[in-house]
Amino acid sequence: MTGTGEAATQAHASKDSTGLPSGPPEQADQRHFWDTLWINEPMPRFDMRCASPCLIRYLAEGKIPLTGRALVPGCGRGYDLLALATAAGTKWSEVLGMDLSPTGVAAAQAYIKEGEADKDKKRTCRVEHSDFFEYTLSSDDEKFSFIYDYTFACAIPPHLREAWARQMRDLLVPETGVLMTLIYPICEKDGGPPYRMSLEIIRGLLEPMGFVAETLCLLPQELCHPGRDGTSGQWKATSGVGLWRLQK
Ligand SMILES: C[S@@+](CC[C@H](N)C(=O)[O-])C[C@H]1O[C@@H](n2cnc3c(N)ncnc32)[C@H](O)[C@@H]1O
Repeated sequence: MTGTGEAATQAHASKDSTGLPSGPPEQADQRHFWDTLWINEPMPRFDMRCASPCLIRYLAEGKIPLTGRALVPGCGRGYDLLALATAAGTKWSEVLGMDLSPTGVAAAQAYIKEGEADKDKKRTCRVEHSDFFEYTLSSDDEKFSFIYDYTFACAIPPHLREAWARQMRDLLVPETGVLMTLIYPICEKDGGPPYRMSLEIIRGLLEPMGFVAETLCLLPQELCHPGRDGTSGQWKATSGVGLWRLQK
């Protein structure tokens, strides 16, 4: 364990009560930080124990393409992966979850294995241990028709945000592909993770990369996870959503 990692873990131990870890502002060893968190807390605070109500609603409303490959970077336990894989009408060739923490990956694999769902649909789910920023495609055919970010953008150090947006651009199918950013925590706070988010922060990252927002708004209470609707918690943070397409 590196000195930085120990400090991070100790800082995390005094975490906030609103659902995401409050660690040091910069973390040199991200993998160590996140894996230590998953080891120390098999049910981390950011784990909402179910898929996002907004994702479920948008799937039902046909706002999400249901074919090709789907990607969930920083997938955590993978509730959203299973929701994507098993939604009515889906014809994914693959729903790929990616996490930097091997312990988080194991938790997601166990959750998906045990989850009650159509076995054939579950088979499209795969969780791999990788760093989103280092993930590469061997050809354009492997690009994703849907990418879903939920509390991943807020988890990375701010100096990686431009790389986050560039990677989203490089991985998404232009024009027909959809990037969904479920934006949290929208609030005023210092430091992180989680780092404070806003609709404008996400817009400022994605528009320069050629993304155009089809939707960018705050979420009504019923589409937020409990405790993430701006009414409670230390930061009184709320949630927002963006649906983005990439211009060719
Ligand atoms: C705040 S959690 C969110 C997890 C999940 N999206 C959810 O909503 O429950 C952030 C996750 O991103 C993972 N992570 C952090 N940096 C990453 C990276 N560079 N590549 C892939 N995963 C990463 C962490 O291990 C952690 O599981």
